[in-house]
Order: sequence, then C-alpha cells, then structure tokens
Amino acid sequence: MARALKLAEVERIPILGTESIVCGFHLVDYIWTDIFSSLPAASTYVLITDTNLAKLYLSQYQESFQVAWAHHNQASAAPRLLTHVLPPGELSKSRATKSAIEDWMFSEKCTRDTMVLALGGGVIGDLVGYVAATFMRGVGFIQIPTSLLAMVDSSIGGKTAVDTPAGKNLVGAFWQPKRIYMDMAVLSTLPPREFSNGMAEVIKTAAIWDSAEFDVLESSSVEIRRAVLSGTQDGDAGLTLATRSAEQTLLQRVIAASARVKAYVVTHDERESGMRGLLNFGHTIGHAIEAILSPQVLHGECVAVGCVLEAEVARRMGHLSEVGVARLVRCLRAYGLPTTMDDPLIRGLASSEQLAEVRPQRLMDVMGVDKKTVGTQKRLVVLKQLGATLELKPTNVSDALILEVISAGVLVKPVDDGAVAETVVVPPGSKSISNRALQLAALGKGVCRLRNLLHSDDTQVMMAALQAMGGCEFAWEDGGDTLVVTGGGGALHTPATELYLGNAGTAARFLTTTVNLINSGGESTVLTGNARMKLRPCAPLVDALRANGCTIDYCEKQGSLPLRVSHSGGRGFPGGRIQLAASVSSQYVSSILLCAPYAQEPVRLELVGGKVISQPYIDMTLAMMAQFGCHVQRISETEYLVPLGAYENPAEYVVESDASSATYPLAFAAITGRQCTVPNIGSASLQGDARFAVDVLRPMGCTVEQTATSTTVRGPPRGQLQALGDIDMEPMTDAFLTASVLAAVAPGNGGVTRIRGIANQHVKECDRIQAMCTELARFGVTAVNHADGIDVHARSIDELTRATPSVHCYDDHRVAMSFSVLACVAPGGAELRERRCVGKTWPQWWDVLARDLGAPIAGADPQAEHAEAESVKVSSPSVVVVGMRGAGKSTLSKAAASALGLTFVDMDEYLEQQVGQTIPEIIASEGGWPAFRAHESRLLAQALTKDFATGAIIACGGGVVEAPDNRTLLQRHMSSNGAVICLTPNMDQVAEFLSRDKTRPAYAAGDARDVYERRKPLYKDASNYEMLVDARLPGAWPKIEQEFVRLVSFASGRDCNRVDLAHSSYFVSLTAKDVGEYLENGRLAAVTAGAHAVELRADLLAAIDEEDVLAKVQWQFAMLRHATSLPVVFTVRTVAQGGAFRGSDAQRLSILHAAIRWGAEYVDVEVDTHAAALYAARRNSLIIASHHDPTGQQLRWSQCEFTTEILHRARACGDIVKLISFANQWSDNMDCLEFTRRRHSQETPLIALNMGYEGQMSRVLCPVLTPVTHPLLAAKAAPGQISVQQINVARATAGLLPARKMALCGTPIQHSPSPAMHNAAFSALGLPHVYGLFETAEASELADLFAAPEFGGASVTIPLKQSVISLLDQLTPAARRIGAVNTVIPAGGKLLGDNTDYLGIVGCLRRSQVTAFPKATALVVGAGGTSRAALYALYTLGIGSVMVYNRTAQRANELVAEFSELFTSLVAISDLAAIESPDYVVGTIPASDLVYPDSLFAKVGVALDMAYKPRWTPLLESANRHGWSVVPGVDVLIEQGIHQLEKWTHLTAPTKIMADAVYTKYNADN
Ligand SMILES: NC(=O)c1ccc[n+]([C@@H]2O[C@H](COP(=O)([O-])OP(=O)(O)OC[C@H]3O[C@@H](n4cnc5c(N)ncnc54)[C@H](O)[C@@H]3O)[C@@H](O)[C@H]2O)c1
Repeated sequence: MARALKLAEVERIPILGTESIVCGFHLVDYIWTDIFSSLPAASTYVLITDTNLAKLYLSQYQESFQVAWAHHNQASAAPRLLTHVLPPGELSKSRATKSAIEDWMFSEKCTRDTMVLALGGGVIGDLVGYVAATFMRGVGFIQIPTSLLAMVDSSIGGKTAVDTPAGKNLVGAFWQPKRIYMDMAVLSTLPPREFSNGMAEVIKTAAIWDSAEFDVLESSSVEIRRAVLSGTQDGDAGLTLATRSAEQTLLQRVIAASARVKAYVVTHDERESGMRGLLNFGHTIGHAIEAILSPQVLHGECVAVGCVLEAEVARRMGHLSEVGVARLVRCLRAYGLPTTMDDPLIRGLASSEQLAEVRPQRLMDVMGVDKKTVGTQKRLVVLKQLGATLELKPTNVSDALILEVISAGVLVKPVDDGAVAETVVVPPGSKSISNRALQLAALGKGVCRLRNLLHSDDTQVMMAALQAMGGCEFAWEDGGDTLVVTGGGGALHTPATELYLGNAGTAARFLTTTVNLINSGGESTVLTGNARMKLRPCAPLVDALRANGCTIDYCEKQGSLPLRVSHSGGRGFPGGRIQLAASVSSQYVSSILLCAPYAQEPVRLELVGGKVISQPYIDMTLAMMAQFGCHVQRISETEYLVPLGAYENPAEYVVESDASSATYPLAFAAITGRQCTVPNIGSASLQGDARFAVDVLRPMGCTVEQTATSTTVRGPPRGQLQALGDIDMEPMTDAFLTASVLAAVAPGNGGVTRIRGIANQHVKECDRIQAMCTELARFGVTAVNHADGIDVHARSIDELTRATPSVHCYDDHRVAMSFSVLACVAPGGAELRERRCVGKTWPQWWDVLARDLGAPIAGADPQAEHAEAESVKVSSPSVVVVGMRGAGKSTLSKAAASALGLTFVDMDEYLEQQVGQTIPEIIASEGGWPAFRAHESRLLAQALTKDFATGAIIACGGGVVEAPDNRTLLQRHMSSNGAVICLTPNMDQVAEFLSRDKTRPAYAAGDARDVYERRKPLYKDASNYEMLVDARLPGAWPKIEQEFVRLVSFASGRDCNRVDLAHSSYFVSLTAKDVGEYLENGRLAAVTAGAHAVELRADLLAAIDEEDVLAKVQWQFAMLRHATSLPVVFTVRTVAQGGAFRGSDAQRLSILHAAIRWGAEYVDVEVDTHAAALYAARRNSLIIASHHDPTGQQLRWSQCEFTTEILHRARACGDIVKLISFANQWSDNMDCLEFTRRRHSQETPLIALNMGYEGQMSRVLCPVLTPVTHPLLAAKAAPGQISVQQINVARATAGLLPARKMALCGTPIQHSPSPAMHNAAFSALGLPHVYGLFETAEASELADLFAAPEFGGASVTIPLKQSVISLLDQLTPAARRIGAVNTVIPAGGKLLGDNTDYLGIVGCLRRSQVTAFPKATALVVGAGGTSRAALYALYTLGIGSVMVYNRTAQRANELVAEFSELFTSLVAISDLAAIESPDYVVGTIPASDLVYPDSLFAKVGVALDMAYKPRWTPLLESANRHGWSVVPGVDVLIEQGIHQLEKWTHLTAPTKIMADAVYTKYNADN
C-alpha cells in the first residue's frame, strides 16, 4: 500500500477568472493530486528542470507521482512521467535548447495530450512555457516556480520566451499556464543572492501598489529572511496551518500579496496596454543598467538601483517626498540589494570596462530602444508615495529630467537677476538632534511622533539597531513624514545577530552605552562596523564603562570596534560615580548621559582629562533629556548628576532643521539678492551654526530677521556683498565653506575675508580648506590656505571666469552645496562633478535648488580627473617623528622636509620659542621636569591641531612618549589618518652620539639604554610606522636618508610607490635565506631586471625560525630597502600554503602587521579569518589577498562556485586578489585566462594563474603583478615559475608583444654606444625590439620615422634637442622647463617629449653624494643646451645655491635670468679663480683647453662631466688630482639611457647589462 499523502493546506489566488495560483509549503503531493483530480487527463507528463533543482527535488517529484496516482486511481496504470534536466543559467534559454527539447519529446512520442511542467526559476519557466506554447501548436503547461523571482514575477502572466543574439526575450509567446504552484519550502535551498534578487520585485510591487504591504516588508526583513532559512530545519514545518510558524505565515503573506498584485494587473490588462506598465517601476532605468552589467549583476540588483533612481525622478518632479525615497532605499538594503551604482556589490561583480560603460547618455540610448518606450517619449512609473503611483499607467517624463537624475554630476547655471522672490525652505532635520531623539523616544515610555527626522545612514543604522534590541516599535504615518515611536521604557533584549553600524559614528558611540542596558535574552552583544569604523577610536568611553563595572571586550584591535558587551557575567550598567575623559569627543559624554537614567544607581558623571570638547553638543543632550522629562543637575563645570527613572515621551517632537544645511538656502538669498526663510531655526537653537545668519550674513550686508524659532535673510542687490575682514568661525566651523563662497564675490569693505578658528576643517571628509582654495581658483578667485583658516580675496561677479568651471567636490557634501550657491551667480555657472555626495545630509538639495529656488539645473557627465582630486586629499595631516634622542630625528626630518617641500618643526625649538626659556632653564626652574612635560603636552596639542596640523614634519623630543597625555595626542593624530614614525636606533651608536652631545640635559635617571628599554613599548604604542636607523646597513647614511624620505612620502600618502598596473607588471620572488646574499656585485639589480616589485618571502629567511624573529626580519627588510627602491611585496607563507613558515597564526599575523608598520607597499595574506583584520589595519599598504590550491582540484576556473566564493571573500579583504591554482592539463590555462578576462577589474585587480610546468602559459597571460623568478636565483618560489625574459619571448612568439623600432636621432652619432646599450637590454629582457641609428640634422626628416606603426621611441641628441619639439604632441613638465627633449615616447597614439639627461645627472650625483644637497653649493660650467638640464637636475636635488660659468658671459647671464626662480641664489660668474670652492661641479661643454684653477677644488667635492670623449676630460683630471670624486660622462649616458629604456618598455632596466655593453663598445673605440 502506498504511503499516506501529505496534502498541504494552501491558499489560492485568482488570475484571469480562475483560482489557478496555489501557495503553500511542501506542495509535492498536493501538486500531483490536484493535477490528477482537477485537470484534464494527459497521457504523458513531461517535467523539465535544471541540474540544481534535479539534485534537490527530482526524486521527490518522481516518487510522489506514483504515490499520488495510486491514491487517485488504483484501477489503471499510471501515465508516463518523463523528465528532462538542463544546465542551469540564462544560456539554456536559447532557441537551440528549445529545439533540443522538442526533438527529445518527438523521440519520446509525445502527443497533443501531453502536459508539460516547468520546475525551476524564470529561465526554466520561460523556456519550457515557450516549448509548451508551440509544441504541436500548444500543449498543457504547468509552472512550478522555485525561485522567488519566478514566484512573484515570471511564472505569472503567461509571457514565455527565449533569448537570441539580438537580445533577451525577443522570441516568444503568451501562453497561460493551467496552474502555478508556489512551494515556499523550496526557497530554503535558493542561494541568498537569488532570494534578494526576487525581493527586488516584491519590494517594487509593494511600492507601486500597497503601502501596508510595504510597511510589513520594511519592518520584517529579519523575520522574512529567517523564515526562508527555517524551512531546512524541520521536514514538514508549514505543511498545515497548525505547523506553520509565524515567520512562515509572514513569508507566505508577502509572497502571495505580491503575486496577487501581478495576477490582478495581468487579469485586467493581459496584453500590456496600460496598467501592466505599472509593474515596470524601476525597470526602465534598471533594464538599461542590466543591458550593460548582465550577467555579472542580476536582474533584481539592477532593478533595485533602477527603483531608487526612478523614485528620485518622482522626488525631483515634486511628487514623492525624500522620506519615501529614503525608506525605499532602506528597505532594499535590508534585503541585501544594492541601491546605487557605487554599491560595493556592483563594483565587486562588474568588470571595470562594464562600469566605465554605465554613463548617463549610454543609459538614455538603451532606454530609447526599450520595448516599452513609445516613440521617442520616455515613460516612467512615477510614485506619489510608497504604495501609490501618480497615474494608473506610466507617466511621460522629459529626457532632461531623467538625465539629470542618473548623471554623476550636475550643471548649475546662474539664476536670472529679476524680481525679488521670496521662498521658504525647510532643510532636513539635524543629524545630532535626530539621533538623540531616536534614542530618547526608544528608551522612553509611551508614544512619540517624531517629525522632520533626518533620513541618513546614521539615523537608519540607529533605528535598525534600536529595533534589533526590541527596545521599541517604529511605524510611519503621513506617507512616512512622521515616525511613530512606541518606546519600550528601557526594556531591551539581546539582538539576534551582531549590530552592524557601518560607518555611523554617532550611532556607534551612543549605542556603546545603550547595549549595556540589555536586560533579557542571550549572553552578549557584538557592536561592529565597516573597515573605516574599525579604525575610529572609542577607548575613553569603553574605559569609563569598564571602570564602572560593565563587561566589554575588544574583538579585534584594542581601542576600536568591534566590541563584545557581556550581559551575563557583568552587572549591566551599574551607574554611580563615573569618570570619563572628554577631551576627544563629546559623543562619549552624551552616550553616558542618555543612558544614565536607566543605570542601577544615579549616575554622577565627572569629566576629566583636560578641556571638554564641544560643550554645545553636551548642552544639546541635556536640553533634549529635559524635553523628555529628565532633568540633569550640573554640579560643577565638569560634573553632572543624573536622576534615575524612565523618559516620558512627549506626544510630538519636531526635530529642528540642520543649521549647517540651512546656511545654503540662506546664502543663496544673500548671493542672489533674494529672500529666504528657514522657519524652524532661530536664536533659541542649540546648534552653533544657527548663528550664521546674524554673525556672517548680516555683516556681509544682508537684512536678517531672526525670532527664537525662525530666520529670514534678504540679500543686498546682486554684487554688493561686503567682505568680512577678520572673522573667527570656531563656533560654526562647518559653515566656513558657505562663508567662503560668499566672500569670493564680496568685493565691498576691502574685499578680503580672513576666516580663522577652523583648523579642524583640514581633516574632515577632505582637506576642506585646501579644497576651497583649489576650487575657488577655478572661478578666478584667489584664496590662501592657512593652518587654522583661509583668506579669500574677492572679485566682482563680472570678473569671475566666463567659462563653466568643473568643480571637484571631493565626495564632500558641504563642498558641493557651497559651490552650487556660487554657481547661481557665476557668469558660466558651474559643473559640480559629484552630484550624489549631498546624500550625506541633504539628498534632495538639487530638487530644492531647482524647484524651490529656481536655479537652472541639468545633468552633467564629467570625465574622471583623479590625480587632481588626490592632491587635495593628501595635503594630509603632518608627519610626526619620535624616537630616542640621537636616533637622527632632526637630521632625517630636515632632509625629508626639504625633499618633499614640508615645513620642518623641531618640537624642542618650538617649545623654547613659545615658552621663552631654554629647555635646561625650564628644567632647572622650580617646576623641574614636570613643568617641562606640561609645556610639551600643551604645545604638542597646539602644534598638531593648530599651528602645524598639515604640511609639516614634526620631530619630537625623545621623552615625548613618557606622558600619557602625549601618547593620547599622538594616537588621536594617528586615528585621524596622521602618521607617527618611530625611529628604531642602534643603541651603541646612540650612546656614542650622546656622549658627544652636550647641548641637551642629561637623562634624569639611568643610562640611555635603560631608558630606551623602558620606553620601547611606549614608542610602539604611540606610533604607526617604524624605521631602522643603523649605520651598519649597506649604503649607511645617505641610504638611510633616502629611505626615510620614501617612508614619509609613503606614510603621508604623497607617493605610495605603487606599481603602475596599466601595463604588464611583474614581481620577482627572492628565495635566499639572507638578503645579504644579494648585496654583493649588484646582484639584486640583476635579479630585479624587468620586475616592478620585489617579493620578500619572509618564510624562506633563516631568521624566521630564530629568537627575536621580528627584529631579525626587520633587519632583512631594511637591508632590502637599502638595496633597491622597488616596492616590496611582503609575504609569509605557511607550509599548508606552499611556504615554509611553521609558527603559529598569531606569529604570522604579528609579522604581517609589522610589515605594514615598516611601510611595505604590498602585504600578501592568505584569505582566512585573520585577513580582514590585516586589511582594516593596512593604512597605505595594499593587501594582496591570496588563495593557493597546490592541487588544482578545488580552485577551478570554469563554473566553480568555490572559486567565485573565494574571489568574493578575497575582494572583501584585499586591494588586489591573487588566486593560484595548479594546472593538471594545458587547457586549464585557457580557462584561467577566460576567468581573468571576466573577473579582472581596476578596483580590485586580479592575479590568477596556475602553478606547475603545464601552467606556465597562465603566467605568460597573467595581466598584472605576475610573480617571476630570475636565472640568477638559486631556487624558484613556486613550481613552474618563469622569468620576465621567458615571458616576453613567449608573448612575442604568441603575437602578444609586437616588435618595435627605436632609434637615436641627431648627428654625428656613428660612434654612439646607445645602440649597443639598448639592444643588450632588449635581449636580456626577451623583448623583440631593435634600436638603430637615424642620422640627420633636420627635425623634419624624423616625421616618417615617428609616424611608422612600429615606432617604439627615440633618443634625441644634438642638434635636434630643441627643434624636435615641433613634431611632438606633448612635453613632460621637466622637458618643458628645461626647454629641450632627449627622449621621445609614443603613448596612446600621441608623441610625448621627455628629458632624461637631467635624471642621469640626478642619479649619478645622488650615488656619489658628499654633502647634504640643501646645504651644498654647485658650479655649472657652460651655458648651452646641456647646462639647462644640469640646472634642472641641481634644482631637483634641492641645491639652493648655484653658479654658472661660461666663456661668453652674455649666454651665462641669459641662462641665469631664465632659471633664477628655481634657486635661492643663481649667479653668473666670470672668473673661476675668484670663487670659493663649491661642493659639486658639473661640466656641460665639450672637452676643451679650459683651465680649472686649484682653488676650485679646495674643499672635498664631486665633479661630473657630461662630455665623455676623452674619458679623462680636463675637468675630471683636475678634480681627480685634488682627491675629488669624479663622475665620467659615460656613467651619465648609461643612467639617462636606463631611464629612457624604462619609459619605453615599462620594465625595470637590466642596469648592469646596459653598463657592460656601453663600456665594451667605449673601451673598444677609445
Ligand atoms: N516571463 C516573465 O514575465 C519574466 C519576468 C521576469 C523575469 N523573467 C525571466 O526569468 C529569468 C530569471 O529567473 P530567475 O531569477 O529565477 O533565474 P534562474 O531561473 O536562472 O534561477 C536562478 C538560479 O537559482 C537556482 N534555483 C532556482 N530555484 C532554486 C531553489 N529553490 N533551490 C536552489 N536553487 C534554485 C537555479 O538553478 C538558478 O541557478 C530571466 O531569464 C528573465 O528573463 C521572465
């Protein structure tokens, strides 16, 4: 007897007049029973599915088929059930598959009475439906949708189709299924991303149709997701109503509701003539995006972005409120969907080519050919509110409006200067007040209606967290304009998952205390955030709470999120006396105050640790607590007493508008001469920026009327604003940008505005002060950047540039909004490059500006201009240097300051100067050492935050780290992206130095060595970079200096020494046990030829197994640094990963973290649970996230979920991804290539290759950072590793590296060693290029050579160095300044002129440096073309004082006049005997009989002669005779040739081979 049937309890939904949609859980038995009993009988049932589903469900369907038939009709044999399984994915939805199915059905002798069943997602449904529609002119068809998308969308409506090369769904038919069975239980096996994909349709449907449904989706995301998972836990849960959990009921409700809407619309408009178009919400723009990003990005993901953009169109048209848009965004995100093109999900999935293609005009073009477009008129579904559309069909929308919304930039044109308009603008709620109000109302008792709440990431995060703790209930009213909070009175329970706070600082701070109030549920709660959040400090707050008895642990880095707060062992929030350091953030104070009424004892909060920061925000908290019924007593300046008791929620609370935002509409009135009122900010406001109207606009000449709660501003007639003179904007720092744009066009009252008190603005979203200077300059306005302010020199509006400036906003909302105000009067308006950045505080600003204020606005699509934007970001915080006295802090800092154009600050000198006493005097005075330390702390704070906050290098006293206050200051500097470099000395050398140095007081106690041992951990604690200073290192002091300059550039982000990944790039893996092995005979230079970086495989070092491993590895690292300037890839690979490291994970990580501290440019880490922490701590290092599969079994390149999964995980914790498999057959290389081609992106470049002999080809084809070996290395780092030479030979043979022709142009050139030099290099690198001679005296004769397709570059010599310029498209800055070209580089179809002569001189002089360049003097002999390069070289080296000697004084004088601006002193001299001996002499004339007087060589110096015939020129001979170092001209020739070669080939030159080739030829000729 057959088993009993399990017949599910189902819900039916009508469509086209019959109830043929069936929903429930575990439907299989029900489906067959229903088919047999209520549909016409069929002779054959054909069930078609894909392999994913066959694996999971096919046998169940087959078994049930027999059982159900047995129950249905015992008398006769069961009809046939045929099954057919296809590969999953869109590719199956083809004409070919359709024919194959049909042929198969014919072969199985299927007849007209066949019933076809589609079990699967939309692909199976569409394809199988189309088969059913056409097989024998149509057979019965049943849909069993298994993906969420198929349930709510594709299975309903009867549309069936296949794809063709011309496009998706272009061939198909309408064919209604007899039944649609939705078995919700199968959703448990649906991949989560596919579930989200379907949710996009569910959310879309609710958004157009049903506000109540939208509310449910919005508030129940956690439950709905849980319901999907719960199906796997219990076999039959949900089969009947009795066994159905609340969550399952909810899941069915939302899916059925969505399906019902689609069914209703289909019923009323089956053939899509009107209403059905409503379902297209989000699809018009979404489809256009999908057309470019598919298949990497899924349909629903594109639709999600489309929904947001189309909602923004509705907002822009004035139909939908910002709240509506924000809620839609929040809801989509809650289901894991992207909401902008910048979403990491999209960036991570799409290739960079695809992303580059998503430009507004392209999207418009795609929309134009959309099947749903009527004529040229675009139609969008316009939302009126969530749950309702403007019309019951799509609405006509102008192209301009759509273009504006989808554009990255915005063009603002001047408003006309007509009649005086009056406007009322209500800016969004203040963020600070919104967050406080949410927290108060959630903890309070009763219902509170919050109005004008800000919808931002911060508040959204706050709401989600409060909800997750069950602290309260949220509901929306008035279409979402009002948030109804039902407070929980302080009852909180442990959230189901960790609380993820993104980068929402305020929420993180506030919730850190709140979580301690949790009084029911699980044992602990984790608070975490994104990588940036994990760098932000929270230690003072955590310290205070811990001291109070709360149990809080740091999960990763000490002092930052993630935190684990324990609810079991600890005592909740004890309260009583709490001490808190409040000099860093007032949010800590507010956090404790807000929760204090719910502590176990009344809180007495005492603020310690110096001046309390941002008191106004604390006052705001106190005032708002009072509004919620809790009156805090302020006992003294720094002490507060908080009574116990729950907050009493007021019935309504209106959040005050954000006063910083309000400055923009008010400034608009001021600048245009109009009138604007902000009705809910006035003199009683708690926000500092509320004073802007009175303190800034009134003095500028505006009429300001302010009541306690409102502000009205009327501007003077256009062009008549008054400059402010000196103004301190400390109380309203964020408003300085608004003031600056007004000041730019305020010529009255002297025309100069000097704003001060805003030093913090250097380190906001960007360096705002620098940003304002740079961007104002685009309008023709001069502004000067100061440490704590800005000077703006006004112009009249007529004098502003008439062009339309393109303004960078640095992704900073305030920069964007300020310049939009200026654009309203600037003659050409302005293009603001990043439109979306205003979303941070005022997403609808552009709508307000266009609609309410009447500014003409259009979309703009600016081309990227990264380099420039970067330069503002990197006028970064000053670099601080700490370390023992005598370690070299001042000397090195001075050198770095001069090399990098920074201000050098010696803290000791600064202190003496500020205090007016010498340090020995201070110490000898009454206060002694403590007085000195007090001064030190105060002035360190002053230097870091005010006087030298940016653009300086600050060398501190050795003992600076002794005082905890100072360490806090340094840590704060680090946490705001500042670098603190610790110099680690060789104590023998320091002791020796100190014994000679009597200028500073001796140590108070003990000898230097003890002091150092004690301070070591303190230095470590207070620094984030470290450098070894040890004279025993190769190259000693000059190298140490160069390495320090490099580290400062790196740490401050000036130059991170990164490999240019635009061309093929390689790193050579060093495999010796000791870096010392490479130091002899330039071996390292030989080994690194062709490579762009060098890998230090720390696991292969002998030191790795020794005691004190960190110090020893550091020594090896430092040696490598001294031997090469190439970037270092630092790697520690374990045995399991194919390496040799046998230590613990903790040891491995400590070494990797140390590498970041030492400034390694790249750190390679295997993707595992620790990689994320390293990534979060990487600062300017780049993380290569690797995965190695030494077998090639697991990491497969085609159709492998494991590989995709690893790729995604690696992208989440790496800047570069490296996937290494093993080739078991040659074709694995092609799969690898195909994988790379699809997955490589500029955002996260991908290194993918196969190990093993058969995998060599994958190394040839790898596009970036291919690891290579070199014949001179004793061992390879991995099996199958080959050299750059081998790779190039293979690439040339395979047709991937065409041969180029290079030539030396000029005359006479027959004896030049250049061909020998370059051809030797080409052959060493395996390049197929050839370098020849092109002798001519006429530049015009070079034209054909340069135009030839195989032209690869030219060296240019006399007499063409100047005349060649006319043939070139572009010059480098150096060539332009020098006025001569010696190198021609073809690039991107253009010819670039460069000059490497000067680089040759620079390189040679650096190597033989005798005196520090800034202090040195130099003499240039000659005044011809080469002397120009010589002068530029001396300038590059930083030599300030130079003399020029030439036989004809006239030419020397001309040269001096032309170059004098580059030097402190540049003079022409007429008598070599009359000058003091210089440190450097550079000869630039052909060897002649010029006599060099002995007096010229009185000092010790270096002579360099550009002439190389004869070898011993008179200059070199005389210099040599006096014991000078000499640099012969051939060496400069080689050096400049090396630079040329590298510029042509983008490979590191084989320097020794080039030099040998030159000398061989040279020696033979001479
Ligand atoms: N006919 C229409 O009106 C209509 C509407 C929208 C979309 N579509 C079409 O639908 C297709 C997309 O549908 P889709 O998103 O369902 O894609 P899909 O059919 O490719 O399914 C997605 C993936 O999930 C797997 N899967 C499905 N259900 C599963 C389950 N329960 N457990 C485990 N794995 C499961 C599938 O094997 C597949 O790998 C597109 O071709 C699109 O054109 C048609």
